[in-house]
Amino acid sequence: AAAPADWDTPLAGKVAVVTGAARGIGATIAEVLARDGAHVICADIPAAGEALSETANKVGGTSFPLDVSAPDAGAKLADFVLERHGGLDIIVNNAGITRDKLLANMDDGKWNSVISVNLIAPQQLVNGLLAKDALREGGAVIDVSSIAGIAGNRGQTNYATSKAGVIGLVDTYKSILGEKGITINAVAPGFIETKMTAAIPLATREAGRLMSSLQQGGQTVDVAETVAYFANPASSAITGNVVRVCGQGFL
Ligand code: NAI
Repeated sequence: AAAPADWDTPLAGKVAVVTGAARGIGATIAEVLARDGAHVICADIPAAGEALSETANKVGGTSFPLDVSAPDAGAKLADFVLERHGGLDIIVNNAGITRDKLLANMDDGKWNSVISVNLIAPQQLVNGLLAKDALREGGAVIDVSSIAGIAGNRGQTNYATSKAGVIGLVDTYKSILGEKGITINAVAPGFIETKMTAAIPLATREAGRLMSSLQQGGQTVDVAETVAYFANPASSAITGNVVRVCGQGFL
């Protein structure tokens, strides 16, 4: 590992993009990367509106409205970072959605939208950046998977499949990116308290909490600190990993 020039701000001089940064886990990731010294470009769907600029202002970063599932999202992102910063060091593919239904009621619309945002977009963004040579040597790609991508989950065939696919991306891209001195790792959170999980019935949330070895869910900061570790030059010898976050040790 390359020791950072300043241990308090290990990401000083680095430029990071966090997708889905308007709220939840993404907003906390943006905060933690900025605390570590990075300039953070906060990306989210245009409909996120004020919430996105609030995160960007809070972290002293830039607001970048971007639907990651648009076919030209990767090219747009590459153009933006090349023009403003001459390149990009860190990308956190955090944007994600759920469209839950038991398998019998799982229609194509729900299947396709989840696969598109959660699985195709992380790949297209990285491809778009690589096509324009916008990812700098020494950089890091961090994808947000899920415990559902490791263990599956009833009612979430689309979501679990998309998150399992992300692990496939990490395993495959590690050599593609490795040639350029860039790492790729994933975090697989268990139950984290955000607006996404607030929609889950309380009894189901409680059952999930009790199944965890630590008997607890996690907070957004638990995920963000793990992401920050993968972004840190101190972890530059670590690639191709998936780290479970929040004590869901029943798996
Ligand atoms: P959230 O719903 O609170 O936030 C997700 C953000 O992504 C929102 O700001 C949303 O506008 C944005 N987003 C959605 N579609 C987008 C698109 N097409 N383009 C750009 N941005 C888009 O969700 P939360 O809980 O913060 O989740 C963040 C990530 O963590 C997701 O990938 C999720 O699947 C994953 N995760 C969450 C867990 C949890 O328990 N909350 C557990 C495991 C994984």
